[in-house]
Amino acid sequence: MFSLTKISITHFKNYEISTFDFDKRIVGIYGQNGIGKTNLLDAIYYCSFAKSYFTSMDSMNIGFHKEGFRIEGFFKSEENNHHVVCLFRPPSKKELFLNQNKYEKLSHHIGLLPSVMIAPDDVSIINEGSEGRRKYIDTIICQLDAMYLQHLIQYNKLLQQRNSLLKNNHHHSIDQTLLEVLSNQLIEPCEYIYHKRTEYLQLLFPFILTFYKQIAQNEENITIQYQSQLQANGYRTLLAQYKEKDLLLQRTQSGIHKDDILFELDGNLFKNIASQGQRKSLLFALKLAEFELLKINKGFAPILLLDDVFEKLDEQRMKNLFDWVCNQNDGQVFITDTHQNRLSESFLQLGIEGQLLELLA
Ligand SMILES: Nc1ncnc2c1ncn2[C@@H]1O[C@H](COP(=O)(O)OP(=O)(O)OP(=O)(O)O)[C@@H](O)[C@H]1O
Ligand SMILES: [Mg+2]
Repeated sequence: MFSLTKISITHFKNYEISTFDFDKRIVGIYGQNGIGKTNLLDAIYYCSFAKSYFTSMDSMNIGFHKEGFRIEGFFKSEENNHHVVCLFRPPSKKELFLNQNKYEKLSHHIGLLPSVMIAPDDVSIINEGSEGRRKYIDTIICQLDAMYLQHLIQYNKLLQQRNSLLKNNHHHSIDQTLLEVLSNQLIEPCEYIYHKRTEYLQLLFPFILTFYKQIAQNEENITIQYQSQLQANGYRTLLAQYKEKDLLLQRTQSGIHKDDILFELDGNLFKNIASQGQRKSLLFALKLAEFELLKINKGFAPILLLDDVFEKLDEQRMKNLFDWVCNQNDGQVFITDTHQNRLSESFLQLGIEGQLLELLA
């Protein structure tokens, strides 16, 4: 089993210097509100992704009045031990070490120690704008395709440059040569990302539908669809088609930054008509599908990080989920809750010998 056996956290959010040992497959973390349960899961997430699940600003995660943070994780798998250190001390750049060796690029680490987080606000993936849905699929592909993140970074950088060129110049005075250069450079990363999203979403969709049925235990008619302008035309053609509009609106109107994933329930937009429970069920289906796809591709189960999931589902759905997570899955699971009882009773009900970790002030 791939698992985290120990983590040391220094000056990260509300942690001064703390070390935790994990010796069971299922780890329940409990303690009062604000004690650091979510922060602990986020520190684990850092070991996988070299970034926070919750914010893109690393500086927000430095403990108040501290100069930097350090997270050190000890992972083991069938063949190997992995020792990972993530260090952030501004003005230096964030650094990541694997077994004492520093990574040239953080992106080279992504996918080595896979994990999947489910957190309370994640239902925004379903309810809110398309950005969250792109982030969802990007997070998955980044862990499966070594080149994907680099293409994504490249695309976003060029897009930003093209947009600021459009923004800072009037229609007729714009540097056409530069616009042309940036447009041409965008084509390769854009089409790469489009093809990978198409490929992986096709693999992912059947899992989402299966998990939804399993969690909801009914025959609701859900459909999912990938939507991209690139389905109609290649990016070179799109850029030409949209050029006038881009100049007028001073922003790039075509590309994979406009992609979306469409969920429907009985032919209506899911986010317009679905109940709270249905939304939560779909969210879990999305996350478990992510988990399953990673597992199949990696050949071992990712670490599952469940933040406050007890608050999210009714008892029956919760039981279905818990049974799947703990008994039908063989990977390591971290679950947070404010109530010790709820955790220990669930362990007992499901016949799990889990570890209970209390966080104290
Ligand atoms: N950069 C930071 N420096 C110091 N403390 C921080 C920082 N960022 C957040 N905190 C503190 O961390 C605490 C929140 O921790 P966390 O979200 O992990 O709590 P929790 O145990 O998950 O609580 P809940 O049960 O309410 O979800 C808050 O007290 C907050 O002030
Ligand atoms: Mg929390």
